[in-house]
Amino acid sequence: MTAVDDRPERPLRVALLGCGTVGAEVAKLLTHSADDLEQRIGRRVELAGIAVRRLNRERPGIDPALLTTDALELVQRPDIDLVVEVIGGIEPARTLILTALERGAAVVTANKALLAEDGATLFAAAEAAGTDLYFEAAVAGAIPIIRPLRESLVGDEITSVMGIVNGTTNFILDRMHTEGVGFSETLTLAQELGYAEADPTADVEGFDAAAKAAILASLAFHSRVRAEDVHREGITEVTRADVATAEAMDSVIKLLAICTLTDDPEPRVSIRVHPAMIPSSHPLASVGGAYNAVFVESRSAGRLMFYGPGAGGSPTASAVMGDLVTVARNRVRGAAGPGESSYAQRQVAPIGDVVTRYHVSLSVADVTGVLASVAHAFAEHGVSLQIVRQEGVGPNATGPTGDAGSARLVIVTHDARDADLSATVETLRSLPEVHEVISVMRVEGDRA
Ligand code: NDP
Ligand code: HSE
Repeated sequence: MTAVDDRPERPLRVALLGCGTVGAEVAKLLTHSADDLEQRIGRRVELAGIAVRRLNRERPGIDPALLTTDALELVQRPDIDLVVEVIGGIEPARTLILTALERGAAVVTANKALLAEDGATLFAAAEAAGTDLYFEAAVAGAIPIIRPLRESLVGDEITSVMGIVNGTTNFILDRMHTEGVGFSETLTLAQELGYAEADPTADVEGFDAAAKAAILASLAFHSRVRAEDVHREGITEVTRADVATAEAMDSVIKLLAICTLTDDPEPRVSIRVHPAMIPSSHPLASVGGAYNAVFVESRSAGRLMFYGPGAGGSPTASAVMGDLVTVARNRVRGAAGPGESSYAQRQVAPIGDVVTRYHVSLSVADVTGVLASVAHAFAEHGVSLQIVRQEGVGPNATGPTGDAGSARLVIVTHDARDADLSATVETLRSLPEVHEVISVMRVEGDRA
């Protein structure tokens, strides 16, 4: 393999891997801002080649002479100093990044899926070669959140990171609330606007947010956390009825990523991604469209909030370009930025140990004593009730399932262990008076 040509007088040369939603914007910025970038970096930066899958795709503003379908050949070229990976997915992105790092090139990537699956291998390769691996764009689009965790707050002790980290699902949920628009129609629009992943299942099933949560938790708690360590629930089961119920409680539904340090004698990390009801007065409730927001809580700094565009080509390209300037400056100075910090090796706590509040909606037989049976099921598992409301009364009332003689019970619990709530739901399902457990949703945000 050929090492990087590091003669000081020549321009730094960039290989761009991928020219889709994000890559096309990066290519334009690199070309149009070349003079300013030279001033900021202290050396000219040139776009040397762009790897794509299809050569015949329309790419307005992109020089066709730069395009290649041989990404591996591009990252192995001796004149390439900096590699920007915006292909996405695991392979060939992993092989391309490792090849680039092993020959000493610095890498900027937006690939959260790969970092959350095999970040350790990438960081080890960067460390071994004494080069940079930067990934600001991998979490929350344009919002600077990786650098604050990796550098600005690294002298503090972070106790929690919580927020909205997926633009597509926030866009969908927001439109379900504000415009009553259906799920699939809004997902199509999110795809057209360039917010969604190539396979939007990653967004709506929570995989993308889980990958981001793993990256955030790894940085915040100096531990190696992978996507598979994150408890994950998506938004595909959130119905218009859930949205209406939340609104009746003066709340909204958001897909949240919550990473916390537990209070155990040997602190563990708890990481979860799921839809939750939050009060309309909570700052996260007003995060609309494809915007993201992340709260960080630390021992010395207290509470910090980061907010901004969470998806889309141009905002994400801004984060990529910030990293590109940083790694280029490092290269000019012969330096490298921070590597992986996983010394604390915290264990991941199981979801059953998580303590939070729950909103449970039931269809029950409208008969004497049903409330007592339901309350007993909660008490049996040590789950205390905060609110109980009955909707639909009388022997001829029609419940939400359409059956005569049923009523709807809405229950909000006090803080309860997830395992205890799950056991309660099992018991409720076995009760003859309970026709259906319509929905179970966590309630967050009181403590923000
Ligand atoms: P796109 O699907 O729009 O673009 C992917 C690009 O990669 C395309 O140019 C495609 O080529 C190219 N490509 C795919 N396979 C190969 C291959 N085998 N060899 C060479 N090139 C290939 O993705 P996005 O731009 O939306 O996302 C890119 C990355 O950025 C992903 O990791 C994503 O998670 C991340 N990201 C995306 C954000 C967004 O809002 N879109 C925000 C933050 C991060 P072709 O053009 O020929 O199809
Ligand atoms: N699909 C991702 C989202 C892109 O919707 O948040 C930004 O990471």
